[in-house]
Amino acid sequence: MTISSDKIVTAIAHTNIALIKYWGKRNAEFIIPYTGSLSLTLDQFYTQTSVQFDASLDQDSVSIDDQLIDGNGWQRVHDFLNIVRQQSDITLNARVKSENHVPTAAGLASSASAFAALAAAASRAAGMDLDLQALSRLARRGSGSACRSIFGGFVEWQRGTNDSDSYAVPIETPNLNDIRIVALTVEKHHKPISSRQGMALSVTTSPYYPTWVKVVESDLQSIKTAINADDFTRFGTISELNAMRMHALTLSANPDFLYFTGDTLEAMNEVKRLRHSGIECYYTIDAGPNVKVICQKQNAAAITDTFSKMFGPEKVTVAQPGPGVKYL
Ligand code: ADP
Ligand code: DP6
Ligand code: CO
Repeated sequence: MTISSDKIVTAIAHTNIALIKYWGKRNAEFIIPYTGSLSLTLDQFYTQTSVQFDASLDQDSVSIDDQLIDGNGWQRVHDFLNIVRQQSDITLNARVKSENHVPTAAGLASSASAFAALAAAASRAAGMDLDLQALSRLARRGSGSACRSIFGGFVEWQRGTNDSDSYAVPIETPNLNDIRIVALTVEKHHKPISSRQGMALSVTTSPYYPTWVKVVESDLQSIKTAINADDFTRFGTISELNAMRMHALTLSANPDFLYFTGDTLEAMNEVKRLRHSGIECYYTIDAGPNVKVICQKQNAAAITDTFSKMFGPEKVTVAQPGPGVKYL
């Protein structure tokens, strides 16, 4: 297939916060998870990526925030572009320019927005016109959580069993529209263990892993019931429980590891204090030290105020449901 070598395609995708977590791959090559998961796409954090296939390049060129990258980061993008080249039947190398409006590799799901944006931009630059389900399947190959960032609002990744039936779907007409996520960016630096390594270690060494797989099935049912019933208390309670159940898989791995820092624990305790004082809120934490506080619009200001005093206002961001992937 011949494509024009100067077509630059730019896409934007937002990160998502998992409320029922994905933590473990049944198949690592295709990124097929052991369980389903459920997330909320956030308006405040996103990646913008442009891709151009160019006959003058002798290898893929990848920059993130104007820095050319090499090593593992480059390899991961290169492997992903190989999937796009295979699907579209092109052989040209690509120039990828990406900007993260989210801290990279700090547990704020940069891999989700990054590979959702890359899937959209690269597939179109390669001449393909994928529907959203196919885009979700493609994004999944770059990072599991990315398959959910193709869609806005509440999203479920239906685990499936193979490459063709493992993809995300939006949860239509969701309630809980006044939901807010107060993100506490206590740490912007790279986490010591990537999500990919961390989940692999949990799957192979935590004696509790088989129980996790069973528990996620019921947690998923509970949270969907809560969303349908517009039951914020049930929604927040199950989100907080599921997050702690995931982190128990890091503590019970061999060797054990932990994504929390002292600030993480202080934030968790403060959420409990606020809740007991009548300001309803819950926490969830992905693979990193940063805490996301789940609340409703009417309490967002009080919660923001409390954590701004604790950590400084620059570390507190109020997010609401964000949009799906789009082209510029
Ligand atoms: P996070 O919590 O940020 O998702 P992960 O460990 O899951 O952390 O993934 C981080 C990795 O995702 C980075 O080390 C890098 O390889 C990749 N990544 C992040 N942002 C980008 C980007 N804009 N373009 C390409 N790859 C990216
Ligand atoms: C804790 O999607 O980053 O955020 O598929 O290996 O790229 P890879 O992992 P990734 O893992 C996300 C883990 C999590 C939970 C979640 O987002 O569901
Ligand atoms: Co990630």
